[in-house]
Amino acid sequence: MPLTKTNGTITPSPHLPFGDQQTAPWYGKDILSVSQFSRSDLTYIFEVAHEMREMVARIGAFDLLKGKILANLFYEPSTRTSSSFTAAMERLGGSVIPINEVRYSSVSKGESLPDTVRTLECYADVIVLRHPEVGASALAAKYARKPIINAGDGIGEHPTQALLDLFTIFEELGTVDGLTVTMLGDLKYGRTVHSLARLLSLYDVKINYVAPPIVAMPREIIAEIDRKGIPQAEFTTLDRPLPETDVLYVTRIQKERFSDPDEYESVKGSYVITPATLQAAKQDMIVMHPLPRVGEISMDVDDDPRAAYFRQMEYGLFVRMALLAMVLGKA
Ligand code: NCD
Repeated sequence: MPLTKTNGTITPSPHLPFGDQQTAPWYGKDILSVSQFSRSDLTYIFEVAHEMREMVARIGAFDLLKGKILANLFYEPSTRTSSSFTAAMERLGGSVIPINEVRYSSVSKGESLPDTVRTLECYADVIVLRHPEVGASALAAKYARKPIINAGDGIGEHPTQALLDLFTIFEELGTVDGLTVTMLGDLKYGRTVHSLARLLSLYDVKINYVAPPIVAMPREIIAEIDRKGIPQAEFTTLDRPLPETDVLYVTRIQKERFSDPDEYESVKGSYVITPATLQAAKQDMIVMHPLPRVGEISMDVDDDPRAAYFRQMEYGLFVRMALLAMVLGKA
């Protein structure tokens, strides 16, 4: 067992054993969709993530994944997801093959996704994949022997973001049960809200959706969540749901997903959260955003203690450390 320092004494860490645990429940598993998680899985992931947070605070980096290699394969732009996976791997003593510019790889010669992942798994132990097509990670997982982690498949899902979003809520507010979560912005093309709404439906929550009608939450996701008995309500403005909101989850209008530029122009700038907006909000609520923001939260909000979006990014590191340790059989 690796050692955790607590107040000068050394105590064994319960979740981070030495040696691959080939019988560990997540060993070798793909992470493709939030639908694969039960509530007890989430409790476990967050326990490990919390422990990673403490380890990073105390010792910064440690060698749990020494010798392991991650291939970071990104067919779409990324700042946070790609660099937090890199940081997660390196803080655990592993290393990374970065393929952020697929145009400089053989993808630009026309290599297929299955062949690209079958190549990378010859060199790496785990592959993180971001791709513009829904279902790309599932396709990659079909061909790969090594674990595939979905880092965003078009307008489909972004499961690791939803995990870090939920971890943020737990760390900031102490619970998820009993909360009202209000999602605002582009709920049609935003993959983070698709994953987060599904994950929240495992808890006793109320979900509000605030969006212009042309980018409303897809009907099939609302129906799926309705079958779990979760109360949901839709609005086009924030004023009614805001006072009851515990978590305001703001999203960017996903410009790159619109086929009609006029349609984008018609909804861009629909909502801007300012200090004045938050006057009507609870004192103990939080404002989240997967980032990047492009104007939907004014920078004047950043100093409000309720602004959790920068802390949310940092929580992402701990969740991704936990996930890598788990699929590589070290947690
Ligand atoms: C999000 C994404 O890529 O879906 N970004 C992220 O991973 N933090 C959100 C977005 O691009 O708006």
